[in-house]
Amino acid sequence: MSSTRVLTGITTTGTPHLGNYVGAIRPAIAASRDPSVDAYLFLADYHALIKNQNPDEVAQSSREIAATWLALGLDPEKTYFYRQSDIPEITELSWVLTCLAAKGLMNRAHAYKAAVQANEESDEDPDFGITMGLFSYPILMAADILIFNAHQVPVGRDQIQHVEMARDIAQRFNHHYGETFTLPEAVVDDHVAVLQGLDGRKMSKSYGNIIPLFGKPKQLQKAINKIKTNLLEPGEPKDPDDSTVFQVWCAFADEAEREQMRQAFADGIAWGEAKKQLFERVNDELAPSRDIYDRLMANPEEVEVILEQGAERLRPQSTALLEKVRHAVGLRAYC
Ligand code: TRP
Repeated sequence: MSSTRVLTGITTTGTPHLGNYVGAIRPAIAASRDPSVDAYLFLADYHALIKNQNPDEVAQSSREIAATWLALGLDPEKTYFYRQSDIPEITELSWVLTCLAAKGLMNRAHAYKAAVQANEESDEDPDFGITMGLFSYPILMAADILIFNAHQVPVGRDQIQHVEMARDIAQRFNHHYGETFTLPEAVVDDHVAVLQGLDGRKMSKSYGNIIPLFGKPKQLQKAINKIKTNLLEPGEPKDPDDSTVFQVWCAFADEAEREQMRQAFADGIAWGEAKKQLFERVNDELAPSRDIYDRLMANPEEVEVILEQGAERLRPQSTALLEKVRHAVGLRAYC
């Protein structure tokens, strides 16, 4: 019995925050430990170039994100953990798929459409600031998925359309050139927690309301102290279901601890005390990983070796598939 191939990519932009940890990193690492699954987790660094053209930031983000996943327990022996840019067959496949993907399909991609709409709303030329990278982004993503014949692609809701486009392109290829690709399926976990940020909205870099994942414990404490609360005094009962402090607590606590905190809210725990307990709980969970993260950031060669080995283990798969594709489309040796 061959295992299910589950593949997902992480665009290497920005610095990971608590919302990424709870909503994406922690569940993905847990899922990668399932022995019936072959997990492929990669750093989508070519995708990062679409969003960021500052080379130092691109390099730094990639390093931070790689170190974050490793520090939080991703096991590179049990998972294929690699950089997109270390697998040249991905970009080669991307071109072959580009020649087959309908332009009309790309016109419908949400990210591209949103960019055009923003231009129209601000009376710009509809193409203003739109690169071919942004336009073709779903094709590169299709190549990421199809190169390893992934069965399942766990993604957020915003990415379902891209996985469906990958499926569409694969189908088109198979129909025209013969059975070559597995048709991938998007998998969306509706139970993953969407963490609230400092202001109670979804935690997101674009809202500037994040709690950083790593850094000094003092920074974590400071961020937690900034979580917005109401003006209820110590001793006055508080509504846990209306509180970001409680919501973040729940993302880290077990069932018994949740009940305890619920009771403490009913008993009128002071906001300062609730935040102190929250800091201690989050810090206890993150402290061991923070030490590993700091070590990996200070020793980038450790991470480099892991990623290079990840790519080396995978290249036989990607070169075999690309060989098949080249033959199928007629790029063949003459004799
Ligand atoms: N586009 C995805 C995102 O922004 C990242 C990504 C790139 C990806 N290639 C992928 C996800 C392939 C799943 C499969 O979140």
